[in-house]
Amino acid sequence: MKKFMLPLAIALMAILPARADEGMWLPALISQRIGDMQAKGFKLTAEDIYSVNQASLKDAVVLFGRGCTGELVSNDGLIFTNHHCGYSYIQKHSSVEHDYLKDGFWALNRGEELPNPGLTVSFLEYMQDVTAQVLEGYKPEMTEEERSQLVRENSNKLMRAARDESKGLTASVEALYYGNQYFLFVFRVYSDVRLVGAPPSSIGKFGGDTDNWMWPRHTGDFSIFRIYADADNNPAVYSQNNVPYHPKKFFKISRAGVKEDDFTFVYGCPGSTKEYITSDETAYTAEVSDPQKIALRTKRLEIMKKHMDQSQAVRIQYSAKYASVSNAWKKWQGEAKGIAKMKTVATKQAYEARFKEWAKGKRYDGVLEKLSSLYKEYIPYYRAYEYYNETVRPIEILSVANMVASFKELNISKDLSKAISIENFYKDYYQPIDEEIFVSMMKALGENLSEDMLPAYYKEQLAKYGTVEAWKDSVFSKSIFTDKAKVRALTAADTTLVKNDPATLMYNAFNEWQRNTLRPVVVKLNSKINLAYRDYMQGQMDFQPEKNFYPDANLTLRVAYGKVAGYSPADGIDYRPVSTLKGIIEKDNPDIFDYNIPQVLRDIYAQGGHEDQPVCFLATNHTTGGNSGSPVLNADGNLIGINFDRVWEGTMSDIAFDPEFCRNISLDVRYLLFNIEYIGHAAYLFDEMEFVD
Ligand code: ARG
Ligand code: GLU
Repeated sequence: MKKFMLPLAIALMAILPARADEGMWLPALISQRIGDMQAKGFKLTAEDIYSVNQASLKDAVVLFGRGCTGELVSNDGLIFTNHHCGYSYIQKHSSVEHDYLKDGFWALNRGEELPNPGLTVSFLEYMQDVTAQVLEGYKPEMTEEERSQLVRENSNKLMRAARDESKGLTASVEALYYGNQYFLFVFRVYSDVRLVGAPPSSIGKFGGDTDNWMWPRHTGDFSIFRIYADADNNPAVYSQNNVPYHPKKFFKISRAGVKEDDFTFVYGCPGSTKEYITSDETAYTAEVSDPQKIALRTKRLEIMKKHMDQSQAVRIQYSAKYASVSNAWKKWQGEAKGIAKMKTVATKQAYEARFKEWAKGKRYDGVLEKLSSLYKEYIPYYRAYEYYNETVRPIEILSVANMVASFKELNISKDLSKAISIENFYKDYYQPIDEEIFVSMMKALGENLSEDMLPAYYKEQLAKYGTVEAWKDSVFSKSIFTDKAKVRALTAADTTLVKNDPATLMYNAFNEWQRNTLRPVVVKLNSKINLAYRDYMQGQMDFQPEKNFYPDANLTLRVAYGKVAGYSPADGIDYRPVSTLKGIIEKDNPDIFDYNIPQVLRDIYAQGGHEDQPVCFLATNHTTGGNSGSPVLNADGNLIGINFDRVWEGTMSDIAFDPEFCRNISLDVRYLLFNIEYIGHAAYLFDEMEFVD
């Protein structure tokens, strides 16, 4: 932006109700936003997005599993989601003989589709404001505990009334705006969901952790499933007699492509945001919590990487663990940097000063002071609580010890599921990594938590062994959990042995400290903080009656809208919003695991004509974790992409949205079609899709 325009821009921002493109809106209330959406290019109506009386776009969106989104793309129940959302199911079907993760999987007819026990997709039937019913019987003199009890009982009543097992209907009551509002969500849950197609990981995970959260991006992050139903189109457990589900609505696919400034919207299930927190909580998150978790994970990642670089076998064992540790690690870095860059803490402090002034003599008088003093009490405990999660939990020998100790009976070799858990654990266990992580994490714990926040057990062990290294040596030399043969052979007679194993004892000591010392304080203060936040939230809404407040994400269905746009992450760099196959070939490198594409893709490219094949694109939609797999739609409500990530410089959007840097990253649906045709040779799937160009 040119300098001389700034004052005007600031003046404009002051009168605009919500910042451009920020927000995750409730579909049932989308009529409040539809004017703005249409002004920005959207061509449909609020009823087209959400309706209980007629089929609407919401009927083509599903919650995929428990933390992703998926979308219907055919009248026969075909759905798209991300590769990383289907990953664990693809993995479960894989073995040495057929490694679908590595090579991809393509059903060449419906008979070849693979069932996935445990996987469900949930359709939202309807959502309804039930605040009055949930708070029926509430009296202002009630304590927060009494209120919670009442809310629970009333919610259960509502959920019971809405549930209908025979139709697969489940229900949940969710608090919005810290419990100032409650909504009932009724879902129809389908549990026969079969794998139809997935690209090889070298396409579906192309760029791996190196490119994760980054642009330019070239990941073919998709997988394809199909929903099956009984003869009446109702949910049913897996059966060969089930037939493809016929949705009320499915998305038509646009192959017209995207260009800068095109209107887009994302319809999906964002998991968690905290846009209305205080400056104290923001400062804690960005200046204490994120940095401490990043530092601990940096140590773990370095240890893993050192060993993974030395051995191909270890690399395979630890690649999924490494990916999951590094995903949040990288996100937190972007978040902390983004909050600092936006000066969110100072902005919030200034806002709070104005709020306090306004609140004088009103029912909100003192609420910020109260939050502030509660937070002071809370932080030392919560910090220790988070420290436990990031230091003790990662020690794998403790988790296997706990797993075995929690088996009701120890007859491992006789119980298939126990035997499988044990085999799965040891298949991916490399003791030298675990020993180094033990030392590194236990040292960090002692160095960074104050005396009174450390468990007595920790101090006893250090006094006994003198150093963390000696303590570690003792645990690893005496524990049976370093020896998988011994663990496999455990029987009921070994209960005492397991109970007294040093790894079990250590797990229990820390767990007890977390459960009995930290948790009760955290829970108690949390409930007080939540009560104060409920007032503060309501106060903010009264303070700015002209502003449209969207509720924080909570894995319920939302609409976000924006436009296709590049961004400038730093001085001298301008990112364009579209990436192509040419960029994949530029990154291709057989020696670098993350960039080693399948030979077939090289061959196809070499034949020519695919240089401009679009792969991914950027837009300004406000998304978060859980939006993975969400349909990205154009102004006509047709599918143009699948959301799978955000850019690193914009991950603070969970707390504060900056239209200059916050971008969601989507797979261009045309790259998915390219893969079906050229990689999967499964073009028969096109017959059931509907294209609009
Ligand atoms: N960052 C994306 C998300 O939060 C993708 C994660 C999976 N990919 C990876 N390389 N770890 O889910
Ligand atoms: N990859 C994330 C997911 O699994 C989406 C990225 C984000 O946090 O926006 O939902």
